[in-house]
Amino acid sequence: MKVTVVGAGAVGATCADNIARKELCTELVLLDIKEGVAEGKAQDMMQTAQLLGFDTKIVGTTNDYSKTAGSDVVVITSGLPRKPGMTREELIGVNAGIVKSVCENILKYSPDTIIIVISNPMDTMTYLALQSTGLPKNKIIGMGGTLDSSRFRYQLSQHLGCSPSDLNAVVIGGHGDTTMIPLIRLATWNSVPVTQFLSEDQQKQIVADTMVGGATLTKLIGTSAWYAPGAAGALLVESILRDEKKLQTCCVFLDGEYGQKDICLGVPVVVGRNGWEKIVDFDLNEQEKQEFNKSADAVRSMNEVLKTL
Ligand code: LAC
Repeated sequence: MKVTVVGAGAVGATCADNIARKELCTELVLLDIKEGVAEGKAQDMMQTAQLLGFDTKIVGTTNDYSKTAGSDVVVITSGLPRKPGMTREELIGVNAGIVKSVCENILKYSPDTIIIVISNPMDTMTYLALQSTGLPKNKIIGMGGTLDSSRFRYQLSQHLGCSPSDLNAVVIGGHGDTTMIPLIRLATWNSVPVTQFLSEDQQKQIVADTMVGGATLTKLIGTSAWYAPGAAGALLVESILRDEKKLQTCCVFLDGEYGQKDICLGVPVVVGRNGWEKIVDFDLNEQEKQEFNKSADAVRSMNEVLKTL
């Protein structure tokens, strides 16, 4: 198995590190446009191989896509990260051009690959990846909901005083501060609805804190987060390469599901060796449906911006 991570910034390097530690593939290529950065980080990680006990071979390259040939999965993290006060949407002008050219280059050497998109604005970049590669829709997966759902579980765990691993909770919709929808009504603590243990105010707080999860970190750190985004990317690589059929929330192309068409948006999907294999209908109530449609409107207007670039 071979995996490529494009972009050796903090998110890309963390994703690669997680993939190597889990030995998800035999060969891992880290590619960046900045001279020497990917080579350096790849070597640094390889020098942890004996310490951490993994056998994945990590190769770094400065923009040589021939090294990525035959990748089973490619994770795209390229582009600018957010600065404090910035929305993910403000990155579209610069990142759209970068993501489009990465997709074209990847496709030359790995025409059957599965692509995981992390670059922001993630929903629109996923749509762009689908358009610019022409790959079957099941092979294009946006990572956002996997990350946001993990942040949601973290926020819930803080209020419940429990382990995030004991929680089942998902965030659907867009991967934007105002477009994500943490489905608190359906969240459970080992099968018991979390709403039984939380006041209305607590529930509102948890939802609000989840939605600005990324922005809060950007403010604290001065740039966007990388540990959880990188780990979320690696988790999807794992679900694919191990054909796990795990239910993850991912940004995928909708063709009537959840009442939406011609858009990539976060919904629960089964992830396995064929990419996202099935969309699962969570039977939203009226309010959740309205929120989902509002989120779709916002993402659709971002997608429209692509036509003007
Ligand atoms: C975040 C970025 C990766 O949410 O979108 O941290």
